[in-house]
Amino acid sequence: MTDTSGPAADREQRARRTAERFREVYGAAPAGVWAAPGRVNLIGEHTDYNDGFVMPLALPHTTLAAAAPRADGVLRVHSGDGGGNGRIAELRPAALRPASGGGWADYPAGIAWALREAGLPVGGADLHYDSTVPVGAGLSSSAALEVVTALALDELYGLGLTRQRLARLAQRAENAFVGVPCGIMDQTAAACCTDGHALFLDTRDLVQRQVPFDLAGAGLRLLVVDTRVRHELGDGAYAQRRAMCERGARALGVHALRDVPYAHLPAALDGLAAERGGPDADGPDVRAAVRHVVTENRRVEDVIAHLDAGEPRAIGPLLTAGHASLRDDFRVSCAELDLAVEAAGAAGALGARMTGGGFGGSAVVLVEEAAADTVAGRITEAFAAAGHAAPRIFPAVPSAGARRLL
Ligand code: GLA
Repeated sequence: MTDTSGPAADREQRARRTAERFREVYGAAPAGVWAAPGRVNLIGEHTDYNDGFVMPLALPHTTLAAAAPRADGVLRVHSGDGGGNGRIAELRPAALRPASGGGWADYPAGIAWALREAGLPVGGADLHYDSTVPVGAGLSSSAALEVVTALALDELYGLGLTRQRLARLAQRAENAFVGVPCGIMDQTAAACCTDGHALFLDTRDLVQRQVPFDLAGAGLRLLVVDTRVRHELGDGAYAQRRAMCERGARALGVHALRDVPYAHLPAALDGLAAERGGPDADGPDVRAAVRHVVTENRRVEDVIAHLDAGEPRAIGPLLTAGHASLRDDFRVSCAELDLAVEAAGAAGALGARMTGGGFGGSAVVLVEEAAADTVAGRITEAFAAAGHAAPRIFPAVPSAGARRLL
């Protein structure tokens, strides 16, 4: 298993290297270096655009941005990870139009656009990025890129954004500029998570609570299994799920599916009996979508109750039940994710589920620390036996959200 978290000294060194690289690229020192993490979601999937509950935690993997202000209003961006083929992209905020580029630079451009649109006095900047968040693995590399850019600009221009507002602006950049209809979970996780905690977030009002999640202290490990199956949220399947949920809410006469109490689910499903399935044969019908969202919100509440009661092992079956709901009702899983979950269970894991948007990406697996290597080995063997590419497996250590490093 690879663990890229490294000790604090390594992180400091990486920040200094990023500052040094900035100097090589732009010919002057940066004003600072900022970081924002990737995330996994413990429970609460496809609930955030239904005003529901989510519970992500930040990974030790981060996107760093070294930045300096520019007086001419221009935004120049450069990536150390191959994005843009090592070239500096020059963006003139006044000329930025939504969905104009199509490359990685759309994310920082979208942030500059969203800040200006909100009437905030943001000027230009030179930015150099360095990231250890795997791209396309369902671990929110794009939210990390958005949030680190927003935080750097916030501090360079003294905008005084709260973390919640910053997350909302980053979501707006992704929705309205990049054109991906995501919810608020990933940006809030990157902006607000703290070391050693999972973040309980009510996505209706962004009220949040840091829930202690001391895996090591409990003798547990949360493994991330990156299936290496890539899927973009931008294509229609994610939007189809959203549309189906909105249709369910309309048919039930509620503002959002969050407003359907768990105890009312049987009556709600009866009431939807006449609703026909969706336009996409592979997607869920309205009833299945409603059942997933309402039961998933309930699972988040149950997970929190167990964590508050000091029973972290008891969350295992809830994770696995969440996976079954995403696979069978909401239909956002895939063969590789199902296999990871199944092989984990067969090898004695406490629970497992896909995490993030689905259709590929990653699963999370809760295991006894002593069994972690065995379970990881069994998952890898199962992938080989099924003819899938080897998954990438590493521990999710609950880590800090966005912050200034230098
Ligand atoms: C993606 C989106 C989030 C959320 C999850 C599913 O990660 O960006 O807003 O909807 O899918 O829970």
